[in-house]
Amino acid sequence: MSRREIKVGMLGLGTVGRGVCRLLAANGPLLDQRAGAGITLKKVLVRDLSRDRGLALPPGLLTTNAGDILSDPEIEIVIEVMGGTGSALEYVLSALRSGRSVVTANKDMVSTHGRELFAAAAEGGSDILFEASVAGGIPIITPLKESLAANRILSLHGIINGTTNYILTRMTREGLGLAEALREARSAGYAEADPAADVEGLDAARKLAILASIAFNTRIVPQDVAVEGIMSVTAEDIAYAREFGFTIKLLAIARETAGGIDVRVHPAFVPDGHPLAAVSGVFNAVFVVSDAAGESMFYGRGAGEMPTASAVVADVMDAVRHLLYRAPGLFGCTCFENKPLKPPGLVESRFYLRLKVADRPGVLAAIARVFGDNGVSLAQVVQKQAGDLAELVVISHRVREAWLRQALVDIGGLPVVREVASVIRVEGEDH
Ligand code: NAP
Ligand code: HSE
Repeated sequence: MSRREIKVGMLGLGTVGRGVCRLLAANGPLLDQRAGAGITLKKVLVRDLSRDRGLALPPGLLTTNAGDILSDPEIEIVIEVMGGTGSALEYVLSALRSGRSVVTANKDMVSTHGRELFAAAAEGGSDILFEASVAGGIPIITPLKESLAANRILSLHGIINGTTNYILTRMTREGLGLAEALREARSAGYAEADPAADVEGLDAARKLAILASIAFNTRIVPQDVAVEGIMSVTAEDIAYAREFGFTIKLLAIARETAGGIDVRVHPAFVPDGHPLAAVSGVFNAVFVVSDAAGESMFYGRGAGEMPTASAVVADVMDAVRHLLYRAPGLFGCTCFENKPLKPPGLVESRFYLRLKVADRPGVLAAIARVFGDNGVSLAQVVQKQAGDLAELVVISHRVREAWLRQALVDIGGLPVVREVASVIRVEGEDH
């Protein structure tokens, strides 16, 4: 039997698109063999035809007309690596409805428009595959959907933003300031076009919404995620974390609890012995706890041209196999439940707190009384001199977040307290 040739169109030829071209060129015959059909890139949509792409491209490959891809009856698979939720969404919905399978790396689109995308795929009998949208080259969506499919997922703890992990690593190891470390991350090309999305935790929240939706079979959108970024983390906090045996990480956490699904992104003290504490620089990792397999960790490069292309091309190969065996749509929407979200105030955590207080007899007792009155029990207290003030560092036992916040309001009102300087959760001690 003669081998089938599957024609692919690609929307975008930036960092990820270039990687896809390079990977198809480097490993083409092997990929064809593994997928069971020839994979040919027929057309690529760009904005600017004259830009030097640093690639040897066949004449006529590039176009500025999306219709050359979306209306070409030969093109059966569309790769979307344009980004954004404007034209990209419009083109992807059109491709899916017309029966073309779509592979995308676009976390903004998938996290916000998942419902529409799966409805369009169901309408067209096509695949929407998005492994590259979370943690770049690390396989995590396929493991959650397939390899761990027999399990109930109990929790996910992820480092899924490379920029902030790079910044925190440089602050911890070299004592760099946050602004300087961010400048480095930008010049190395890790940061988003608007790096606020990285440092304010929004990029991680989008990726977490995608992972949590799959893990808990419930549609979770970025607005459902309680988010805090890393802008308030100081050199003092990093030094105290080291002193207490922790490393500060921006964690993305999704956990099924009796009171609903707890989804949040925030900086956290992670015990030095936890596998996530050792994930440094731009590396990403997702630590999954499930009822049968137990603890698993997925680690690797969460961004960049070739790691992201690796995930995109593997999805293309899956789409090819589904076409060959007439099974597009095999991996449809997994959100068949509608579990409630846990209100953030009801979530229980341990907390690290740093307070600047007057250095006078009775101050510690007054503060301890307010904590006690609000149901906050203290595990560790350290006091250090900070000029003519004292710096009081406290690590609490597990406490309901709403109680801790009320205690801090009351403590902030004490005349002897100058500042509640830092509030950071302690995570990862139970797993
Ligand atoms: P990029 O370098 O900015 O490339 C975007 C490409 O899309 C460019 O080739 C651009 O054309 C084209 N494009 C954008 N808008 C267009 C429009 N309206 N019409 C035609 N072409 C258009 O982006 P990227 O870094 O490759 O990221 C692509 C996607 O992958 C995003 O969704 C991103 O979030 C996701 N992603 C990226 C990474 C990463 O490491 N970069 C990792 C994981 C996921 P011109 O070249 O002509 O301007
Ligand atoms: N800005 C993102 C990061 C790129 O730093 O992880 C990959 O999505």
